[in-house]
Amino acid sequence: MTRVLVAYSPTRMSRDEAGRPRLEQHILSTVNDVVEALRKAGYRVESAALSRDPRRFLAAARRFRPKAVFNLCEGVAGEAELEMHAVALFELARLRHTGNGCLALAVCLEKATTKRLLRTARIDTPDFLTVAPGEEPEGHPGLPAIVKPALSDGSLGITSRSVVKTQAALRQRVQYVHRWFRQPALVERYVVGREFQVAMVGNLQPDVLAVAELSYRGLPRALPRICSYSAKWDPSSHYYRHTNPVLPAAIPDALRQRLVTAALRAWRVLGMRGYGRVDFRVRRNRPFVVDVNPNCDISADAGLARAARYAGMTYAQLCDRVVRLALE
Ligand SMILES: Nc1ncnc2c1ncn2[C@@H]1O[C@H](COP(=O)(O)OP(=O)(O)O)[C@@H](O)[C@H]1O
Ligand SMILES: [Mg+2]
Repeated sequence: MTRVLVAYSPTRMSRDEAGRPRLEQHILSTVNDVVEALRKAGYRVESAALSRDPRRFLAAARRFRPKAVFNLCEGVAGEAELEMHAVALFELARLRHTGNGCLALAVCLEKATTKRLLRTARIDTPDFLTVAPGEEPEGHPGLPAIVKPALSDGSLGITSRSVVKTQAALRQRVQYVHRWFRQPALVERYVVGREFQVAMVGNLQPDVLAVAELSYRGLPRALPRICSYSAKWDPSSHYYRHTNPVLPAAIPDALRQRLVTAALRAWRVLGMRGYGRVDFRVRRNRPFVVDVNPNCDISADAGLARAARYAGMTYAQLCDRVVRLALE
């Protein structure tokens, strides 16, 4: 039986403004999902936690001698900036691993770098500027704008107030990002329009599993249509209830084709492999990349698994495929 070691990195404390432990629970339930799926697919599976001190993880790997590591580390010990370091460790220890390599993870961690690379490949992404801590924004990339932490994901720091219509509100929100997240703020032109997610699995020539729409139908008008922190993590919120995936997206073929082409080009220019998701907003039939997720959620109820099911793959088949890609 082929041995697979599922690697994850627990956090003691999530860094949510309200201090809720949801992220932690989510990581653990994803580990369960993947372990179960891989067993179903016929692998011998163990899991091991990776902390700031990698010795225990390495000892577990040495003992178990896996053919591949199934990487579920979204960072190390709650630090998202260390996401690539987990993969660097696997590579250093000659452990084959699922999903993306260091370079794609490093590039995509920094939204501005991602956007610059996308632009070199002539892939549309909204105009932007970044503001380092201690600096004040000069001007704006167009209003309304959305202000995000420049080095985060999981919608950390994204609330209805992230969308700003005036320079004063923009300045305030930049300060908020600096104060709470201690990192640069990315100020991006806000694209009014529908939102789509393209999920992909593969290496050099990935398969597009599906194009899904993230629908905000029913969301109170006062709230901007964005996938905010509460849309992801707070079941009691308006956002959570009215942010719903529609799969497949009900769109004309021509638009679907444009989204798929842009997603595949993004995959290539960012050097992605394994699996990932590219997210778009569309204005006047023109797709703009707003987010690239080289280490997207691969739990049984997340978008990637949903897209795989749409493409005719069970969750166990998806996890199996992801392991096989790591061994290619
Ligand atoms: N430029 C933009 N225009 C319109 N909506 C945006 C834009 N950037 C982000 N959003 C909204 O905010 C959400 C979160 O932003 P994103 O960049 O995906 O952050 P994260 O990396 O935390 O997922 C997106 O899913 C989208 O709904
Ligand atoms: Mg996103």
